[in-house]
This record gives sequence, structure tokens and C-alpha cells, in this order.
Amino acid sequence: MLKLQNVCKFYGEGEARVAALNGVSFEVNKGDYIAVMGPSGSGKSTLLNIIGGLDRLSSGEVFLEGQRLDTLDENELVAVRRGKISYVFQQYHLLPSLTALENVLLPITFAGLDGNGHEAHAVQILERIGLGKRMHHRPNQLSGGEQQRVAIARALVNNPILTLADEPTGNMDQKRGNEILDLFDQLNKEGQTIIMVTHNLDAARRAKEIINLRDGALVDRIKQQVR
Ligand SMILES: Nc1ncnc2c1ncn2[C@@H]1O[C@H](COP(=O)(O)OP(=O)(O)OP(=O)(O)O)[C@@H](O)[C@H]1O
Ligand SMILES: [Mg+2]
Repeated sequence: MLKLQNVCKFYGEGEARVAALNGVSFEVNKGDYIAVMGPSGSGKSTLLNIIGGLDRLSSGEVFLEGQRLDTLDENELVAVRRGKISYVFQQYHLLPSLTALENVLLPITFAGLDGNGHEAHAVQILERIGLGKRMHHRPNQLSGGEQQRVAIARALVNNPILTLADEPTGNMDQKRGNEILDLFDQLNKEGQTIIMVTHNLDAARRAKEIINLRDGALVDRIKQQVR
């Protein structure tokens, strides 16, 4: 479904040049749940940003369902991403003036697809993740874990084929974090493909595989015991 070939990302020039990614290759199949681990600065966020189309690679190739992404222009990339890839950030990036439901509906609004069917779908997702009674609250009336769940609901509203998450539990205590991980387990069981960056080994153990990055290179990919 997703294929990276020899992906490199360099920042800066000459002496100051940093290789954030230095020849990363791997494939992701439908239904995979991969945790990306590695020390700070090893290139985890850069990797996710390139897959998600938020950043451009310096060299290499990225394919999504056979379609080459790295040669698309901005508009084409946005169109592909919008339909297929969702992104959950460490910072939730919710709009403070909108309710939970309105935040979840933002991608639909941006895509110009407003309509009752979508609102019902958004409500359904919010109910599924335990926020049915909170959907008319604004972000500052929600806990960190609840805000992250709204951000995840927003990421799912377009029925993505691939969900990317950068430290989705990074800002929360263990209990809240586990709720998010339970939700990811459930989504993965339903067939959602997930790539999650995490520093936390307990979180990574919930995934089916762990990819380790070091200095911008993939050092290993380990299948985990069946959960
Ligand atoms: N915009 C940028 N300009 C220059 N260097 C950058 C830029 N973004 C990232 N880097 C560098 O690229 C390397 C990889 O960064 P990246 O953010 O991918 O690391 P990370 O593994 O996500 O780290 P962390 O665990 O701290 O989030 C780092 O050395 C970083 O300093
Ligand atoms: Mg990072």
C-alpha cells in the first residue's frame, strides 16, 4: 500500500547540512500497525511528514497504492492526502472557537463536502470514541485526552486508508494514553493501517511491528508477538 525507496531528506547546505533521513526504504501493507521509535533527532517526525506530504524529500521515491507521491505538485499532493492519509499530531491543533463536532467536521468543510450525511458520520465517530456527550464542548472545556480523541476523530472523518500519528500520547498521563492506544487497537482490528511515532516502549509494544531509526537510517524492523 505504501512504499518508500531510498528516501533522503537533507536540511541546510555545506558544513551545516544535516541528513534528517539517509536512505530509508520500507513497505507498509494494509492492516499494518507500525510503531516508529528512535532517539530524539533520529528523523521520526521527518519520516512521517514526508509520508503525509507535509514535507518534501530530497531524493528517493514514495508510492501510495502504486501512485508516486514525491513527484506530485502541491495541489495534487493535497488532493491525494485529503482523500487517503490522516495525520494526528502531538499538539492537537484544534480550533479553540469551534466545538468538538465542528472541529471533527473541518476536513469535510475544507473539502467543500458539507452535508447532513457527513455530520451524522462525525457524530457517530465521536460517539464511538466516547465523546458523544462532549461534542458541543469547545477544546478548552475538554481534557487533554479528550482533545486528542477529537483530533483522532477529525483524522478519521474522511475514511483514510492510512493514519499517521506523531507521539499521539506524548502529552498525557498513562491512563489517558492507554485510552488512545485502546482506540488505535480497535481501529487496527477493523482494518485501519497505522504508523505511530512514539518514545514510549509500552506504547510501541501495542503495535504489530516496531521500526527503529537511528541518525536518519532504519536500523531494524521487528515483528512483535501476537497481542
Ligand atoms: N526545518 C529543519 N531545518 C533544519 N534541520 C531540521 C529541520 N527539521 C528537522 N531538522 C533536523 O533533522 C533531524 C531529524 O529531526 P526530526 O524532527 O525528524 O527528529 P525526531 O526523531 O522526530 O526527534 P524528536 O524525537 O525529538 O521529535 C534533527 O537533527 C533535526 O534537527
Ligand atoms: Mg519528532
